[in-house]
Amino acid sequence: MILPPATLGMLGGGQLGRFFVSAAHEMGYAVWVLDPDPNSPAGRLADEHLVAAYDDYVALDRMAAGCAAVTTEFENVPAETLEYLAKFIPVRPSAKAVAICQNRIAEKTFLRDHGIPHGPFAVIRGDDDIAAADEALFPAVLKVARFGYDGKGQARVASREEALHAFHGFNGEPCVLEKMLSLDCEVSVVLARDAAGQIRAFAPGENRHRKGILDVTIAPARVDAALSRQAGEVAERIAVELGYVGTLGVEFFVSGGALFVNEMAPRPHNSGHHTIDACVTSQYEQQVRALTELPLGEPRMHSPAVMVNLLGELWFEGGDHHTHQREPDWSVLHREPGTRLHLYGKHHARQGRKMGHFTVIGESIDAVLEIALRARAAVGIVDDDH
Ligand SMILES: Nc1ncnc2c1ncn2[C@@H]1O[C@H](COP(=O)(O)OP(=O)(O)OP(=O)(O)O)[C@@H](O)[C@H]1O
Ligand SMILES: [Mg+2]
Repeated sequence: MILPPATLGMLGGGQLGRFFVSAAHEMGYAVWVLDPDPNSPAGRLADEHLVAAYDDYVALDRMAAGCAAVTTEFENVPAETLEYLAKFIPVRPSAKAVAICQNRIAEKTFLRDHGIPHGPFAVIRGDDDIAAADEALFPAVLKVARFGYDGKGQARVASREEALHAFHGFNGEPCVLEKMLSLDCEVSVVLARDAAGQIRAFAPGENRHRKGILDVTIAPARVDAALSRQAGEVAERIAVELGYVGTLGVEFFVSGGALFVNEMAPRPHNSGHHTIDACVTSQYEQQVRALTELPLGEPRMHSPAVMVNLLGELWFEGGDHHTHQREPDWSVLHREPGTRLHLYGKHHARQGRKMGHFTVIGESIDAVLEIALRARAAVGIVDDDH
């Protein structure tokens, strides 16, 4: 076991890293964050912020010398960086697991090879692959294999012609072409797996997206018990097959009553934010525990919860980013019972940028959802278009 006051390393300085730093500090650890942005949310809380690129080997050497173990919050950290650090200190999750999750072609291939349910897709590396794609895939979504997030690097395409046009728009980058599924709903499972192979999964959450970005998570998901159990089992199988150590997020589509894995995130997940306020152990504390070989904590939810993301547009009057940036009126949120606001300390708001979130907990999921949606409207989130 790596015990306090050891220093832990975190690759990536976003909000997921920031919550990890908070959890680690609570537990008595120091944390060094590596992120090129001098104002990164996690970097600002860290004991040491290495302001450097992910392939800056001088900075990586410093991290290896100063930290007892290292983890990541950013799935696009180069696998080579993780491999390099692993020569000196434990790196969890492994470069191999992260490499699969950060490339949609590798990810989909992994799912197919392991017989894990996923939607129909084709790998697109050139115009020929589009010409050869099964007609039944359309209408479809074309997604770049690497560096997409929050719906970026994606195009909805009705036909082969549109797919070709979108592919050229992505400069011929390798892509996957996915059949557009009609969704009953979306759910996700966040779990932690330790180095000994023990797994602790949180109850599935139900996710609502808006403009390709997570908007609301309702936990536990309002799906039948069999589906919920099955989602947990599939997520566990993925963790085992990846040899995963750490906190893992698995996103699912529910279509025609059946589960299909959408994608995996080799880190804590946005849909697991509520675990801070609604579970005995948060997904971030689990990440600390898995990294340091402490026994994993109890994932049980003590309250139903609804999490609402606060995106950059909320910092502009009427969502119009030509106006001056101003702070939303948080007093309306604090007046709602059972509400906890989390802000990430990002100074510049942008359309779609995740600036914070709030979680509502209470006695029943219906009551909590009602309060959360009322608070969401009151703070100024409007449902104009989708
Ligand atoms: N094949 C599909 N069929 C139906 N809906 C889809 C499909 N692919 C994506 N979507 C919708 O778009 C959302 C974002 O897609 P995806 O998870 O692939 O993107 P992402 O950029 O990785 O987003 P994030 O980082 O927020 O998870 C999905 O959660 C879903 O609502
Ligand atoms: Mg996603």
